Amino acid sequence: MSSPIPLHPVDTIQRKRNGYELTDSEIGSFIAGVVAGDITDARTAALLMAIFQHGLSPRELATLTDAMRRSGEVFDASTLGKYTVDKHSTGGVGDKSSLLIAPIVAAAGLADPMISGRSLGHTGGTLDKLETIPGFNTQLSLQRFGEVIAACGFSMIGQTKNLVPADRILYALRDHTGTVESPYLITASIMSKKLAEDLRGLVLDVKTGSGAFLKRYEDSEQLARLLVATGEGNGTRTVALLTAMDEPLGRFAGNWLEVWECIDILQGREHPLSADLIELSAVLAGWMLHLGGVSSSPHAGRDDALRLLRSGAAYERWLHMVRLQGGNTSIFDNPAAFHRPAVHHVLRAERDGYLAGMDCTEVGWAVQRLGAGREVPGGPVAAHAGIEMHVKLGSRVTVGQPLVTLFTEDPALLHTPLAMLNDTLQIADTPPTTQALIRQVVLGR
Ligand code: URA
Repeated sequence: MSSPIPLHPVDTIQRKRNGYELTDSEIGSFIAGVVAGDITDARTAALLMAIFQHGLSPRELATLTDAMRRSGEVFDASTLGKYTVDKHSTGGVGDKSSLLIAPIVAAAGLADPMISGRSLGHTGGTLDKLETIPGFNTQLSLQRFGEVIAACGFSMIGQTKNLVPADRILYALRDHTGTVESPYLITASIMSKKLAEDLRGLVLDVKTGSGAFLKRYEDSEQLARLLVATGEGNGTRTVALLTAMDEPLGRFAGNWLEVWECIDILQGREHPLSADLIELSAVLAGWMLHLGGVSSSPHAGRDDALRLLRSGAAYERWLHMVRLQGGNTSIFDNPAAFHRPAVHHVLRAERDGYLAGMDCTEVGWAVQRLGAGREVPGGPVAAHAGIEMHVKLGSRVTVGQPLVTLFTEDPALLHTPLAMLNDTLQIADTPPTTQALIRQVVLGR
């Protein structure tokens, strides 16, 4: 039999541009060409725009995700002999729930191979938070990653150079071509990386509201459905929770500040402003325990997760993991003393009333501009920059009461974020209608 005629990328682009469904071979050969460097950026960008305009059928999305997942090395969890389960958030402000959830899940006897990202846009990144712990190494080989998980039940690392290289190339081009916000491309990007972790279960935290990437409820719901269908289609039990992101989650937003908040909780000190963070983490971890067969229902899982957190079992796992990845755990003896911003400034209420609203994306940008985010791609982030919220949406406030404290390592960075927060935090005579923290659960089956 003669070998098949090679597919020309321009034919693939034109067929998608004209609204046709691509075949598995067209998608597979295009992604292989992108990773091999045989397809120009112009052609790749053209296909991305055609996908942005026309979307993808369920089969096309499954094929694209799988082709991306297999574009480099993948983690092999078979030797762990444990149920592998992970959680992923679409990104929020002050969302440090991974730092609580992974040790809880490990303490329950499951394995969490967590490959995380850095700050993106106005949102923080788990790797930037973890790297504020002196000595902590997020750049392990997949072999060492597996060894750490075998020893303590979880590990938290960054994407290695060879893991899902197709996503790195496509993501950079999407950023340049206005094609980031396609729910189909977001799904393929997230799921190709998560499925490369060799997971049996996955719980997705899809944010909705003013601090989410997709702000409209319908768009977040569509994304949740695509993520779940793609995970299930690849043989991974997948659940998505649509959760409110209308204000920072918990008490702090900023790199070390968020680790500090979690250390307090893991050590048994639960500040009242951390209540939403603890509840969300317990619910997400509860679903993971349920999928992994530890808890009889998601609700029982939530209670089990809280028990593992409050008994100190999760903290033991956390300490073990941090030590194995080279981190200096002595700073956890007095986390408040490790917080060393050059400047702090308290923003106070100018009138009596209720904290009635904010643009949470603007709050996230204020945190980034205090130094917690990057000025240029690949640049440094400040460990001690960020904010402490003193009130939650709907709280009664009186004139002069602290609303938020701003922290920065560089006094020159204070002015703009202060003005941004001053503008966006609204005080009104009547309390706002607040949204439930967990808005909806999307199940695959
Ligand atoms: N996170 C990702 O990993 N990819 C996207 O496209 C969006 C958020």
